[in-house]
Amino acid sequence: MRELSIEFCGVKFPTPFLLSSSPVSNTAEMIARGFDKGFGGVAYKTLGGEHTKIIHPSPRMRGYDYGGKKVIGVQNVEMTTDRPLKDNIKDIKWLKKRYPKHVVIGSIMGFSKGEWRDLALTVEDAGVDMLELNFSCPHMSVEGTGMKVGQAFELVKEFTRIVRDCVKLPILAKLTSNVTDITEPALYAKEGGADGITAINTVRGLAGIGLDDFIPSLNVYGRGAISGYSGPAIKPIGLKCIVELAKKKELGLPLSGCGGAETWIDAVEYLLCGASTLQMTTSVIRYGHRVVEDMCEGLSDFMDAKGFKQVKDIVGKALPNIHETSAFDVSKQGAASYDLERCIGCGQCYIVCRDAGGQALEWDSKKRRPVPDDEKCYSCMICSFVCPVDDLITFKDIKGKKPYTPKPSKL
Ligand SMILES: Cc1cc2nc3c(=O)[nH]c(=O)nc-3n(C[C@H](O)[C@H](O)[C@H](O)COP(=O)(O)O)c2cc1C
Repeated sequence: MRELSIEFCGVKFPTPFLLSSSPVSNTAEMIARGFDKGFGGVAYKTLGGEHTKIIHPSPRMRGYDYGGKKVIGVQNVEMTTDRPLKDNIKDIKWLKKRYPKHVVIGSIMGFSKGEWRDLALTVEDAGVDMLELNFSCPHMSVEGTGMKVGQAFELVKEFTRIVRDCVKLPILAKLTSNVTDITEPALYAKEGGADGITAINTVRGLAGIGLDDFIPSLNVYGRGAISGYSGPAIKPIGLKCIVELAKKKELGLPLSGCGGAETWIDAVEYLLCGASTLQMTTSVIRYGHRVVEDMCEGLSDFMDAKGFKQVKDIVGKALPNIHETSAFDVSKQGAASYDLERCIGCGQCYIVCRDAGGQALEWDSKKRRPVPDDEKCYSCMICSFVCPVDDLITFKDIKGKKPYTPKPSKL
């Protein structure tokens, strides 16, 4: 196994992988087991103000199954910790004593200016390595907290500044994707003194409605709510946010990615897009701590295969390839290419080309094979991703091909 350490905001992480702030980072004992499996750090479950007692709705979470696959996402209504602050502080101290080389990040959310200050000081005093300011929980029932702060950029700056002025530790601002442009609050966080950005928290969503009772499927005694949604479906949103943040030149802060990471491939993608560390919750909810074993092994093998000596060398390597769509060279055109020797004759390609695509395929019903037409194919590539045979249909460049627009219908 390769050495997988990385420095992030001046702190050395044994591996770039963290348990993110959530039920998976609720107690020292469970975090310790995660460290033993390969997590290099933890963003401890968000600590809130002591004066507002959190009583969680019951039930708190609901798995979202789709197309026969279990738990492609999770909808939750969990808020900040409901454990007493003193118990959490005891856990944090124990963790730091037992695992001095692992990184413990204190996630906090004040319910008033004074509470931001008090929490920051208390958690710093407990011996954490960094702080993460939770400006992003999308369903806090306490007014003026969580995502509401992340959407009011002046408050992001103000609360970051309050914390900056009272602690020396590196500070991360954990931001919400529920804004038009995540780089805006990030710049405010920087102005307030943040050293890095975590993106993203759960995305506001509604996973489903009961067809008998018309109540959202996260049914809290007959009521539902739009609330946090997480898991593989939000990975594209998480990656997008990391790319936008990484490309924002005025920002120039290190990034911790979060959202939908389940496999070593997801992990490498986050690094390639500009994240230096990667946090996760839903994959641990789905599979347990073993997800990090796959990540460490896969990352190590990937580094061997590609000749990367250190994890930091991977960070941001995809960024030069990510552009605005206006940068595409549309003078080059291609078409779908069929390896008909491997075709099983199911006809899916023909159906979707007619019902949703470029009307470019004919069907040879004797041979049960599609009959492609390179000129008519406008390379939407729908056929390639509905075909049940891997890589039977691929994209091919056609030199000199002119962009094709379907002819007017013969109506
Ligand atoms: C049940 C639940 C509780 C969470 N609680 C917190 C929290 O207290 N603080 C926080 O910053 N993020 C919280 N999160 C968000 C996660 O840390 C993470 O940002 C989000 O789930 C996206 O990552 P994932 O797709 O790997 O789960 C919570 C997520 C879930 C599912």
